[in-house]
Amino acid sequence: MLRDQFGRDVTYLRVSVTERCNFRCQYCMPEKPFSWVPRENLLSYEELYSFIRIGIDQGITKIRLTGGEPLTRDDLDRLIAMIIEYAPDVDIGLTTNGYLLEPMVERLSNAGLKRINVSLDSMQKETLHAITKKDVLDKVKAGIEAAVQAGLKVKINSVIMKKVNEDEVIALFEYAKGLGAQIRFIEYMENSFASSHVQGLTSDEILDILGKHVSFSPVLIGSDGPATLYECTDGYRFGTIEPHKHDFCATCNRIRLTAEGDLIPCLYFDEAMSVKDALRENDLDQAEQVLRTVVFNKPEKNRWNANDSEVSTRAFYQTGG
Ligand code: 5AD
Ligand code: SF4
Repeated sequence: MLRDQFGRDVTYLRVSVTERCNFRCQYCMPEKPFSWVPRENLLSYEELYSFIRIGIDQGITKIRLTGGEPLTRDDLDRLIAMIIEYAPDVDIGLTTNGYLLEPMVERLSNAGLKRINVSLDSMQKETLHAITKKDVLDKVKAGIEAAVQAGLKVKINSVIMKKVNEDEVIALFEYAKGLGAQIRFIEYMENSFASSHVQGLTSDEILDILGKHVSFSPVLIGSDGPATLYECTDGYRFGTIEPHKHDFCATCNRIRLTAEGDLIPCLYFDEAMSVKDALRENDLDQAEQVLRTVVFNKPEKNRWNANDSEVSTRAFYQTGG
């Protein structure tokens, strides 16, 4: 069991398999060119698998593979199959921007993946192009629809921004609903890599827009991680993730591994310890020790305070959100 000094059990590991991404979303990536971490600094699938196995042995029951864009790494299904072979009951999910998804769906599903979250911020080609800096709508939709067809449980994540896609809330909602996929509206989180003019809608503003279109009420029982769930009168459920209103620290059960092997106890906290050398030397006892230390020292609360207009200096594309 991995328990921190405040009594929280850590059971959820988010693993970024690469910080590279084929999109440049305006709320996530710098606009100016920048260089990626050299490939040789990334953990191999074998190294990631070694660490994930240690985590599972120590009580991790839920794993999410993230990026950057995880599907920019070849053969991601191989890593998924390795993990599921080791722990068939582990709850494993993938977060992707969907661009490379359609041709991979069958392989991912055959590897045993059951759940997938896809980001989609607009149903308009030009608007989505402006957000991601690439013409992506058709491929993302094809990926989402292929995943639904293959029987994967699909969630759609949308970040709504003023004067960018605030008129898309209903279209996104209806698209997700039509596919039987849960949509979650994520409040924009300020960070120093986003373009400076981005202004997010609050969850209340989003709920106002939705309220003019459908009737819904909050689901009081059964939480879904940081999401607040709502149920429409016809039974369709959607969510909001509202870091400006709630902090999730008291019940936080997660830690993050970056693609370079840094173990991060909290999204808005700069301290991290590397497990890379231990994994490269196949010193699994040392890797487990680092894991225990990072979990034990997980901060009680994050240092992010929207009111202080403080922003995260660690990029989402490095930590996988
Ligand atoms: N604020 C809110 N959500 C973000 N994401 C990336 N950057 C931000 C941000 N600054 C979302 C993406 C994706 C998920 C991994 O995180 O849209 O759905
Ligand atoms: Fe967009 Fe996700 Fe890529 Fe960031 S990591 S640029 S949010 S697709």
